[in-house]
Amino acid sequence: MCGIVGYIGTEQAAPIILDGLARLEYRGYDSAGIAVYNGQDIQITKSVGRLKVLEELTHGGATMPGCIGIGHTRWATHGAPSQVNAHPHFNKEITVAVVHNGIIENYIQLRNRLSKRGYEFVSETDTEVVAHMLDYYYTGDPLETIAKVLHRIEGSYALGVIFASHPDELFAARKDSPLIVGQKENGCFIASDVPAILRYTRKVYYMENQEIVRLKKDSLNFYNFDEEEISKESVTIEWDANAAEKGGYEHFMLKEMYEQPKTVTDTLLPRFKDNKIEIEELGMTDEEMKEIKKIHIVACGSAYHAGMTGKYVLEGLARIPVEIDLASEFRYRNPILEEGAMVMVISQSGETADTLAALRESQERGFKVLGIVNVVGSSIAREADNVMYTWAGPEIAVATTKAYSAQLIALYLLAMKFAEVRGTVSAEVLEEMKEDLKKLPDQIEMLLNNKERIQRFANRYIGAKDVFFIGRGIDYAISLEGSLKLKEISYIHSEAYAAGELKHGTISLIEEGTLVTAVATQQDLFAKTVSNIVEVKARGAFVLAVTNEGNTEIEKAADYVIYLPQTNSYFTNSLAIIPLQLFGYYVAVGKGCDVDKPRNLAKSVTVE
Ligand code: AGP
Repeated sequence: MCGIVGYIGTEQAAPIILDGLARLEYRGYDSAGIAVYNGQDIQITKSVGRLKVLEELTHGGATMPGCIGIGHTRWATHGAPSQVNAHPHFNKEITVAVVHNGIIENYIQLRNRLSKRGYEFVSETDTEVVAHMLDYYYTGDPLETIAKVLHRIEGSYALGVIFASHPDELFAARKDSPLIVGQKENGCFIASDVPAILRYTRKVYYMENQEIVRLKKDSLNFYNFDEEEISKESVTIEWDANAAEKGGYEHFMLKEMYEQPKTVTDTLLPRFKDNKIEIEELGMTDEEMKEIKKIHIVACGSAYHAGMTGKYVLEGLARIPVEIDLASEFRYRNPILEEGAMVMVISQSGETADTLAALRESQERGFKVLGIVNVVGSSIAREADNVMYTWAGPEIAVATTKAYSAQLIALYLLAMKFAEVRGTVSAEVLEEMKEDLKKLPDQIEMLLNNKERIQRFANRYIGAKDVFFIGRGIDYAISLEGSLKLKEISYIHSEAYAAGELKHGTISLIEEGTLVTAVATQQDLFAKTVSNIVEVKARGAFVLAVTNEGNTEIEKAADYVIYLPQTNSYFTNSLAIIPLQLFGYYVAVGKGCDVDKPRNLAKSVTVE
């Protein structure tokens, strides 16, 4: 989860690289660095902290003249955030410099081998090994040198490399970590993600695994690891350039919350053909859908929470047994995948290492994998057997909102399609559900526009120490997501609990004034959840309830109530999440936290 950018062309490289890195800071931001060939040698500047430190240090790049360079913004994996650990890394003579996103799994063995040959290491990073290996294996031909090194390193990487001996060529290589190449007249780019170069070009090549690229100011050549030249097709990025900007909102997170009506619509409508649900990208016939015996949903973080909702909806509507796993657990627990099972992985970034590993584990066992992914061309999107995109557009804030909401829609559609094909829900009920689905964007918009109440309420809790979220069934699933939203951006400890489970120990933590958020949208469980509210009230809790319009009797138990518009009971998470997102957001803003780039986090966790 680092960001790399490179440029070669007729313009000054440093300002372009710094600008690109600024659009990748969501990938990691504890340190940064840049290397530019200035006509005589490779000049390197590195800094700790946010990218603006590096920008100030280099006066926006002015102190680093040259038309070829590479840059990096880091989220530490090996070695604490420090100047010496920041990228780019280089050999002793500084004749080669490298930036890297990923993990070199065998770096310790390589480091020992190189040390025995007299190489001295100055950093704690895995990446420095690559710089010294490029030195050790240097043959005078950069491509040959790079190929030799890549055959010897194991792990995941997107690499950018410059050689002082070849100042008119920039090299990059990819294995498992995302890497794109951009091209415009008189200049070429490498980057970890599209926003870094979108203002310069929309012509992009997605690097596949085990590919190397040689960039010159007016040409690109792609190779495999055997140095054989390969041809690649470019794609034209259709994103609106502003999509990667804040669009007038204070934070990307707020902007993306307000984009939820659109992302719900954009995810929904392409799958409605003449009011029939059609999910061609599922790649399954009706017969195959009928034969599914079990679904394994595997994901991390908020995607896992969406999967939890998916479990309730798929089991409820399609009556298919669903097992849900955290990807980091799934990949190591020797999961039991039986004949007739299908695996679904959910991922916004499409680069989460654990989720990608779970996908590969499933495929190695002979199971097809459906990827529910947001980033087009991402690793999971390319490796899954079938991909159902969530069409949420670029999500920059580390805390996901619009992509999560789009994941819910994808799961509703899948459940309804399976139910229709398997005959577990009547056509009449499905028609009603389709109408409810189509109302969601407006209902979400209405909740977003009534944010003042939740904003005022949030301001009362910026000093909170512990917050609990409780719910039953689908309301438990949304409690998990509401809790994560609060804690990951406000740093307030929070826990989500199945409401019926609280009394089995955790209720001992409830004290006078402890905030408990109770979600009660499931009519068949409403009374039970109300009794849980009474339980925590009896121990001094202050209860914020989130329930459907009309459930006014809850006001006898709860202290503060947020009402949601009526929708199908399977879809309530799409509405309940809005006040919970707003609550977390305004608490974090009230605390002065960096909402878009919370400490210790990165947008895409591409290491395990
Ligand atoms: C969500 O707000 C977090 N940023 C995090 O839990 C995220 O959902 C998780 O890392 C999974 O990421 P992915 O969807 O890109 O795979």
